[in-house]
Amino acid sequence: MPTRESQTNTPRLTACAITEILEQRNQQRERHADHQYGALTIFRRFFGINRENWHMYLFGSIAAIANGGTYPAFGIVYAKGISGFQSTDPHVRRHDGDRVALWFFLIAILSAIAIGFQNLFFATTAAQLTNKIRSLSFSAILRQDIEYFDEDEHNTGQLTSSLSDNPQKVNGLAGVTLGAIVQAIATLICGTIIGIIFAWKLGLVALACTPVLFSAGYIRLRVVVLKDHKNKRAHEQSAQLACEAAGAIRTVASLTREDDCIRLYSESLEGPLRTSNRSAVYSNAIYALSQAMSFFVIALIFWYGSRLVADGEFSTFQFFVGLMSSTFSAIQAGNVFSFVPDISSAKSAATDIISLLDSMPEIDAESPEGEIATDVQGHIRFENVHFRYPSRPGVRVLRDLNLTVEPGTYAALVGASGCGKSTTIQLIERFYDTLSGTVYLDGRPITQYNVSEYRKHIALVSQEPTLYSGTIRFNILLGAAKPRSEITQEEIETACRNANILDFIESLPQGFDTEVGGKGSQLSGGQKQRIAIARALLRNPKVLLLDEATSALDSNSEKVVQEALDKAAKGRTTIAIAHRLSTIQNADRIFFVKDGAAQRSWHTR
Ligand SMILES: Nc1ncnc2c1ncn2[C@@H]1O[C@H](COP(=O)(O)OP(=O)(O)OP(=O)(O)O)[C@@H](O)[C@H]1O
Ligand SMILES: [Mg+2]
Repeated sequence: MPTRESQTNTPRLTACAITEILEQRNQQRERHADHQYGALTIFRRFFGINRENWHMYLFGSIAAIANGGTYPAFGIVYAKGISGFQSTDPHVRRHDGDRVALWFFLIAILSAIAIGFQNLFFATTAAQLTNKIRSLSFSAILRQDIEYFDEDEHNTGQLTSSLSDNPQKVNGLAGVTLGAIVQAIATLICGTIIGIIFAWKLGLVALACTPVLFSAGYIRLRVVVLKDHKNKRAHEQSAQLACEAAGAIRTVASLTREDDCIRLYSESLEGPLRTSNRSAVYSNAIYALSQAMSFFVIALIFWYGSRLVADGEFSTFQFFVGLMSSTFSAIQAGNVFSFVPDISSAKSAATDIISLLDSMPEIDAESPEGEIATDVQGHIRFENVHFRYPSRPGVRVLRDLNLTVEPGTYAALVGASGCGKSTTIQLIERFYDTLSGTVYLDGRPITQYNVSEYRKHIALVSQEPTLYSGTIRFNILLGAAKPRSEITQEEIETACRNANILDFIESLPQGFDTEVGGKGSQLSGGQKQRIAIARALLRNPKVLLLDEATSALDSNSEKVVQEALDKAAKGRTTIAIAHRLSTIQNADRIFFVKDGAAQRSWHTR
């Protein structure tokens, strides 16, 4: 006998109020997305992540400074050698020559040791930092709510690249490159100081020229950062394309669309290549200028120094010390800028990493807050629920949905495609929060429960079961709500028996230890689905959600799976989205959903 869900006593939300809520949410999201991080913040954050390795950076820097100091030291010894040749006595010349050669030899040994330690310390810490960033990023990705994964910019291709490329770029800078930067700066400072001490006029000229070298590099920094940013966006698109094609290889192969995929992929690569070619000319011209700038500076110092020597103001020794130390300084000042591409790509990678680590989902499964649901009965109620997907706020999906499912009963949702049935189920899982209105479990709004504890009482079996490569046991254990070590073989077998799959598993030569293949490809659709049901039952949920669990199966396996589902539904609240009569047959109550609201419902018993 049809009854109507009560909808009248609670005030309905006007469209205006909903638009206001949507706008507020959008503004919040934009504020978060626009966040930029300064170099200092980035440095502080990454140092914080790798804090316990600070001594490695200290030792590495000491080695780098020693290494950087070898160049000006080389300059002094070289000047000594040149002025030694001026002696008229061949014995003195020879003695001086030997001594200078010995000094060069010592510098070579010192430099070898310093380079070795510099690279060792910097590379080891960077590798540890990268590992930490990868694990932190991965747990941050898993922590995000479903809304995050609905957004275009968080597709699988982009997420894979942010797990593999971004930490690698940071590694590039935080490791050997950082050592080289410290070394270059050490050479620059030591060279300038030695130049000023031995030949102050030349030293000052070199110092005065440093800003010119730095400015050339700064311009390059701007050019490269812009280019890097554009390239990155463009390549994310092609990565997504490749990822989608590989992920759906069966569809691609069965439609013989490989050539189309290759063509689309090549086309998606062309755009970035064109932009990169265009900017390459520009940025390389500036790079060339900044590199050649060092030679201009050396030419200037040589000209000025030779005049000072000619005027008798400086000795040859002073001249050569001044010339050599400023030459090394100028070259290193130019070299610092060759790290710019590394720095800029590491900076944008680091910004991405930090925004990922900082982005807090609204529905946070790791949050310790919220009540722990105990003794759950499984009473589900939707009260005036309005909902739109955050990624498509223009489309009203649920409009004032009201429904009640009594504990331990079997409810079926029926309705046309796109009317909001799966959405209703997702709201029960709390994958999204309602725009307005409330979903209750046992009379308490589900938003008041602790997210992960709440989800432990719920299990979902959907149309396409997702299995992972590994054994059958591994896949079933994924459903466990308690630690795996506490799960007995008996519990696993009971779940499998109730899912009608135990006999099949036991008939396999390797039983529960049989590998299922990637995405469960070595099993039939019905077997996969029954393993998914066993996985759902292992957590002994109070609420079982079935989203067209049998619709992808042929009628034979559908029958077996439906039997499994009927067994599984016993003793718990079950909400099934039905498209076949067999799913509805055993329902205690049927809800007819239309235009995002439960239009009518029937008690069948
Ligand atoms: N992640 C999403 N982002 C944006 N819109 C979505 C999303 N998922 C579903 N929608 C839209 O929400 C509406 C309801 O979808 P829903 O999946 O709930 O329908 P359904 O009743 O389960 O349909 P079907 O019987 O075909 O599975 C549809 O218009 C759909 O396009
Ligand atoms: Mg659906």
